[in-house]
Amino acid sequence: MGLNEDLVELFHENRDRFLSGEELAGKLGVSRTTIWNHIRALRKLGYQFTAHTHIGYKLLAAPDRLLPQEINLRLNTRFLGRTVHWHDEVGSTNDVALELAASGAPEGTAVVAENQTQGRGRFGRDWFSPRGKNLILSLVLRPSFVPGRVSQLGITTAVSAAVCLRELFDLPALIKWPNDVYIRGKKAGGILTELSAELDRIHHAVVGIGLNLNFEKQEIPVGLRPNCTSVRIETGRTCDRIEVTVRLLNELERRYRRLLQEGFSSTIDEWMDLSLTLGRRIEAASEGRKLTGYPTGLDEDGGLLIRLDSGVTQKISGGDITVLSPGGQD
Ligand code: BTN
Repeated sequence: MGLNEDLVELFHENRDRFLSGEELAGKLGVSRTTIWNHIRALRKLGYQFTAHTHIGYKLLAAPDRLLPQEINLRLNTRFLGRTVHWHDEVGSTNDVALELAASGAPEGTAVVAENQTQGRGRFGRDWFSPRGKNLILSLVLRPSFVPGRVSQLGITTAVSAAVCLRELFDLPALIKWPNDVYIRGKKAGGILTELSAELDRIHHAVVGIGLNLNFEKQEIPVGLRPNCTSVRIETGRTCDRIEVTVRLLNELERRYRRLLQEGFSSTIDEWMDLSLTLGRRIEAASEGRKLTGYPTGLDEDGGLLIRLDSGVTQKISGGDITVLSPGGQD
């Protein structure tokens, strides 16, 4: 950990008392001037302190930002999110993560941003997320499997995100194939996986996650409103974005390691339990064709198995689906 992290940790551990510059300098093995400079930098990031001459500083509030030192303090993972690159604004966190991955960033490296100017979704769509409200996160992964299995990453991430929203907020989060997170029939999150690979080997994958946490209805562009929601809208409460980020990283690392060690079948089981799609009549647009029928499950590559009206079961690997019949629990 760096000095920033150590300093923030000390302030968090001592929320009820003042810490003098001398005590901090002694504990961290640096000069009082260094401490003073770091506190000034933390203030610029939005940390609030009460300061008293001769007594020292007390942390009043940490900012509502996805700062690495805050994430790291609460993380239980071995590698996922252990290095976090925070940006106030980027084009797309996926682009930053792809560049970092190409220049050798270790597996698990995370990129977070408060705002994206060119956030993108699947099929080249824009990803809308107002500044400082949601989770915008991209992760560098280096799975040792063939590119044909790459959809497993998005699906594993969607399962982790849905579990996270269920456990933290008791929300009925479900997954629309392949990896959209829905709450009560509206989209609350999406995942975009991008890849650098050869035919038989993945160099690296970047899993980009957008989770709608704290935006309110009036912040959503009118055209998106009917199909879009957030934790804030669903619970009526602002949530702690750091808490969600940490929980998601913890949930995802566990499932990702299981995926590498044991394969995809446990994730398929979880996905089946969380599926918005199973048992509902759907229309699928895939590879220029339109198919209608009932999804029956996922195959080993993350493809959706659909029992067509003809009785034949067909697999689709990409594309979009539309749910035609309403279901009970969403
Ligand atoms: C979708 O549902 O179409 C996928 C949306 C993915 C959005 C995330 S936000 C973080 C990362 N950066 C991007 O530009 N996109 C992904």
